[in-house]
Amino acid sequence: MRTSRSDKADSSKMTLPPESLVAHPVSRVSGETDVPGDKSLSHRALLLGAVARGETRIVGANAGEDVAATARALTALGAPVRSSGSGLVVEGRGGWLEEPENVLDLGNSGTAMRLLTGLLSPQPFMSILTGDASLRSRPMERVAKPLREMGAVILTRRGGRAPIVVAGARLRPIAYEMPSPSAQVKSAILLAALFTPGRTEVREPIPSRDHTERLLGWFGVEVDASPGRASLQGPRIPHGAAVAIPGDPSAAAFFVVAGVLAREGEVVVRRAGTNPTRTGFLDVLRRMGADIEVRPCAEEGPEPMADLIARPSSLRGTVIEPSEVPRLVDEIPILAVAAACAEGTTEIRGAEDLRVKESDRLSAMAAGLSALGVVVEERRDGLTIHGRGPGSLTGGDVESRADHRLAMSFLVAGLSARAPVRVHGTRWIATSDPAFLENLERLAPGAVTSTEGA
Ligand code: S3P
Repeated sequence: MRTSRSDKADSSKMTLPPESLVAHPVSRVSGETDVPGDKSLSHRALLLGAVARGETRIVGANAGEDVAATARALTALGAPVRSSGSGLVVEGRGGWLEEPENVLDLGNSGTAMRLLTGLLSPQPFMSILTGDASLRSRPMERVAKPLREMGAVILTRRGGRAPIVVAGARLRPIAYEMPSPSAQVKSAILLAALFTPGRTEVREPIPSRDHTERLLGWFGVEVDASPGRASLQGPRIPHGAAVAIPGDPSAAAFFVVAGVLAREGEVVVRRAGTNPTRTGFLDVLRRMGADIEVRPCAEEGPEPMADLIARPSSLRGTVIEPSEVPRLVDEIPILAVAAACAEGTTEIRGAEDLRVKESDRLSAMAAGLSALGVVVEERRDGLTIHGRGPGSLTGGDVESRADHRLAMSFLVAGLSARAPVRVHGTRWIATSDPAFLENLERLAPGAVTSTEGA
């Protein structure tokens, strides 16, 4: 059993998308689609399942490479993850994990690395966490610092980068005021708090996604939470649970924007998560004039979900304020595409953290949209995009910079450009949504091809 691994979450069995793809202009985008399970929730359900007492069954987990990295790491930590029917099953350890025999490679996944650093800090053994070149360039001190205040022994490479060494230690509770909003930092502290005697509290200046707080409750751990604040009394061992994961709103956003920018058709994204800490992109698109309907589905899991119906719309520019950013942080690349096709100027403010995501997303979006003829100003904390309405994007060559969300954003941009858009680095789509191309093909047949002339 130790070696059993999830087929569904095992990226070595995945067929990767091609290195480059061409998106062709289409007027019609129409039909119904599913999206992969929420990536944030999938990581968290696996992590809590691994330390829970008893078995955890997860239906609808995200099948991308990031979640597979978490599943592999947990298997190496003595909590085997396997696929069963339509879901994943984790054998909970009821508290302590096992020392891994080797370095844990978390690939491209910042969430896996930061949340595991929290979960492993109180575990009585040493672990070494690493990842790909992108992940090894991202800041890790933001989680190491509060965890060290709790007594954790954590070493990072120069500049606070991975590889990270976590040497298990006995922790003490803290009340931590986060300098900037981050669900990953908040979650790392709450996961460490599970094994820390006493009440640990986290506060953040703007509320970030609250999946960890909700899921802890679902696993039987009482969390005192309100927007911008969460605390829990440790030590607590979660109870294994059945978790139904809704579709990832961040994955839904690409299809919603494709439906809004099309000239004809109607796009229905089935069963997307509608946790209000994630739906800022719907508010912004509607404010820009988008015709989007939200039809709630019956609740069967820890989080709400709905069918999202997006129809062709004329968009106008808007301002995205810093206070809105945590609710749409991963949707900024696709919102920038929508802004480029809107009439008027859109300003995105307070988004400096985008510079340290899977790529520097502000610089990459500015470069990609400029290559498609858009006038974009890149600022330290955001972008100013001068939209010139439908049909204003030219064709051209753009780079994903090894970033899944940029690859998908530029492919969607290509559907409403005047000429084909060649996107380089499309293999990275598998990070979060291996079914993206198949689903897009169903909504816009023939729109994305592997060569110019096809
Ligand atoms: C995530 C939180 C966000 C987001 C990331 C996933 C999570 O990062 O950008 O893709 O699952 O907690 P921050 O918490 O660093 O803002």
